[in-house]
Amino acid sequence: MASSPIIFSALLLFIISLSSTSSAQQSFRPKALLLPVTKDQSTLQYTTVINQRTPLVPASVVFDLGGRQLWVDCDKGYVSTSYQPPRCNSAVCSRAGPSGCDVCYSPRGPGCNNNTCGSLPENTVTDIATSGEIALDVVSIQSTNGSNPGRVVQIPNLIFFCGRTFLLQGLARGTVGMAGMGRHNIGLPSQFAAAFSFNRKFAVCLPSGGGRGVAFFGNGPYVFLPGIEISGLTTTPLLINPVSIDTAYTPGEKSSEYFIGVTAIKITEKAVPINAALLKINGDTGFGGTKISTVNPYTVMQTSIFNAFTSAFVREAAARNITRVSTVAPFGACFSTKNVAATRLGYAVPEIQLVLQSNDVVWRIFGANSMVSVSDDVICLGFVDGGVNARTSVVIGGYQLENNLIEFDLATNRFGFSSTLLGRRTTCSNFNFTSTA
Ligand SMILES: *[C@@H]1O[C@H](CO)[C@@H](O)[C@H](O)[C@H]1NC(C)=O
Ligand SMILES: *[C@@H]1O[C@H](CO)[C@@H](O)[C@H](O)[C@H]1NC(C)=O
Ligand SMILES: *[C@@H]1O[C@H](CO)[C@@H](O)[C@H](O)[C@H]1NC(C)=O
Ligand SMILES: *[C@@H]1O[C@H](CO)[C@@H](O)[C@H](O)[C@H]1NC(C)=O
Repeated sequence: MASSPIIFSALLLFIISLSSTSSAQQSFRPKALLLPVTKDQSTLQYTTVINQRTPLVPASVVFDLGGRQLWVDCDKGYVSTSYQPPRCNSAVCSRAGPSGCDVCYSPRGPGCNNNTCGSLPENTVTDIATSGEIALDVVSIQSTNGSNPGRVVQIPNLIFFCGRTFLLQGLARGTVGMAGMGRHNIGLPSQFAAAFSFNRKFAVCLPSGGGRGVAFFGNGPYVFLPGIEISGLTTTPLLINPVSIDTAYTPGEKSSEYFIGVTAIKITEKAVPINAALLKINGDTGFGGTKISTVNPYTVMQTSIFNAFTSAFVREAAARNITRVSTVAPFGACFSTKNVAATRLGYAVPEIQLVLQSNDVVWRIFGANSMVSVSDDVICLGFVDGGVNARTSVVIGGYQLENNLIEFDLATNRFGFSSTLLGRRTTCSNFNFTSTA
């Protein structure tokens, strides 16, 4: 009998400590989250890691800026006690977009249940889509104060699509799907913002080479070593393409991709002669315009723009005594490094200027983002020909985005860009990933 008060008080303490940790967890609301972003050297795709399922599994997935949603392979190796397929016609299904009511004749399991809803996960690298179950599962993600990762937080019911093993073809080795950051109800930026009631805003800093870059969700600051806060971004409206240009879409669906209004392209302040109509989004077909993409390793231009752009660059390079050498695929113009100085912003080559809403809002591209080293003494203009019938006239690709901080504010429809961080004496690989949790 004498021991019972001790047991009682120990139990009481245990209960108190349990309830205080759980209430602390509930009251912690992150202001921002982060994901690491790395570059796969063989496919030149960018990848991130989503910690998903019960028990948690680090799922390596391709980072797809314009993608509609997260999709992962559910055919192979998807094991989770918290996997839930929502019933068809439920609120989750309608949030995810138009969908049917599925019947599945394979063995029951993740990706195969009856009376659930299905949609069309798409591999945006190969433009192949397939049918797949819409599902919910837990995701665990690090919060951030802008300088370091902080406490890990959980999203119990993140919506994603179940893809299939064959859909992984063409993606970086080891990846099991794609993380869509596009403008859609179930794009990851919208789901993260909804889970913690923060702004529908995110920023991406793609690494070059083997470094580890970062994506921030929610509010800044964005701080890189050695203690450099990236602010004062130049902004331009984000444009909505009213017609989806995906392989799989439903009539009337808007594009989930991010477009900006490039009005002219210049090289060393001289305008490249291009058909201005191509720079506008055609509201009937969704063709034309300029979008930003992380699944294109280099900027892609419609053939007439590409030819005019390449000729203008070659002319300006010649004026600086830069010697042209034989072209190396997939590029259109290559040069000897012999007469080219190396500077902090990369090779000293003619500057490329993307003019936006007015003549003084300009995205300037310097050597580090324009020239690709293909051998010890040859560099190539890192832009490629998208063909005469390119759906989008200019697709600003990964190489041109590396070591630039770009921000997407979905509530105000503003796009912000830092221009090269090399000019601010830091890089996208300089985020301090030491956790302070
Ligand atoms: C779904 O229903 C069909 C028809 O009743 C049945 O043949 C099939 O086995 C069911 N599938 C699953 C995964 O339960
Ligand atoms: C984030 O937290 C770390 C550790 O507490 C601190 O050193 C740093 O100054 C904080 N950064 C910001 C931007 O508040
Ligand atoms: C290019 O080379 C020519 C002849 O060698 C020289 O006269 C000229 O100054 C050079 N131009 C530049 C921009 O270096
Ligand atoms: C990274 O952050 C940690 C935690 O705040 C700090 O102790 C460490 O000094 C930082 N690293 C550098 C290189 O500043």
